Amino acid sequence: MAMIIDGKAISAQIKDEVKEAVAKMADEGRTVTLAVVLVGDDPASHVYVRNKKRACEYTGIRSLSYELPGTTTQDELLALIGELNRRADVDGILVQLPLPQHMNEDEVIKAIDPDKDVDGFHPYNVGRLSIGQEGFVSCTPAGIIQLLKRSGIEMEGKECVIVGRSNIVGKPMAMLMLRENATVTVCHSKTADLKEVCRRADILICAIGRAKFFTKDYIKAGAAVIDVGMDRDENNKLCGDVDFDDVFENAGAITPVPGGVGPMTIAMLMHNCVAAAKMKDEK
Ligand code: GUN
Repeated sequence: MAMIIDGKAISAQIKDEVKEAVAKMADEGRTVTLAVVLVGDDPASHVYVRNKKRACEYTGIRSLSYELPGTTTQDELLALIGELNRRADVDGILVQLPLPQHMNEDEVIKAIDPDKDVDGFHPYNVGRLSIGQEGFVSCTPAGIIQLLKRSGIEMEGKECVIVGRSNIVGKPMAMLMLRENATVTVCHSKTADLKEVCRRADILICAIGRAKFFTKDYIKAGAAVIDVGMDRDENNKLCGDVDFDDVFENAGAITPVPGGVGPMTIAMLMHNCVAAAKMKDEK
């Protein structure tokens, strides 16, 4: 029977650590500030942004909110980012994705000052991660590393299989796992015999966005299974990429959906905001 990795509890612990750090900085007259930019009316993005602002309130981080209409032009958005880059009182900038169709996400991300890029999406930070240098790391994979470490799951020397190669999760996850001295395999939709590769994993990261795709025949007995999926099942109920009930008996550890990886993303964003503020002060 698997140990359930409690992302809610671990993320709460991280948010409390951030809260303490923010309070200490406040005592010294330093306010940590995150600018949150949302363009358009994607309902899921509104929920994410609301949760991010709530986490700011909890941790004591000041949040500045910019909710722009879907008709905003890319130049207008770039002008706002330029202003936030220049503002000395802004430590972190977050532009919620996806952006409306008429915008070029790569160009927008590139416009954010890498030192304020608390999402870790800027090519500069992606590059730093890939050559093992300090920088901002995408919050979801950074959160998964924390889940594993704080659950006592060793990565060094382990076979780690990542299914999904997105820029936000799969690729940075591979870099972070390498940094922890795991042996890393990245799988994707063209991987031959996916089941056989997954069954080699001591740690399996499932990030493909297909409801309950990973059944017990993908899992080695005792493996740690990390579910990054946020999917809907046949009854429209929130579920992950892993068939939890099917895998539970066989796995060594497993993250539930909801309450596993999800809450970690926001906790790591808060952590990155404090890191951005501290880095700015040291410059
Ligand atoms: N959209 C989905 N996930 C994320 C995220 O982690 N950051 C931002 N900015 N947008 C997202």
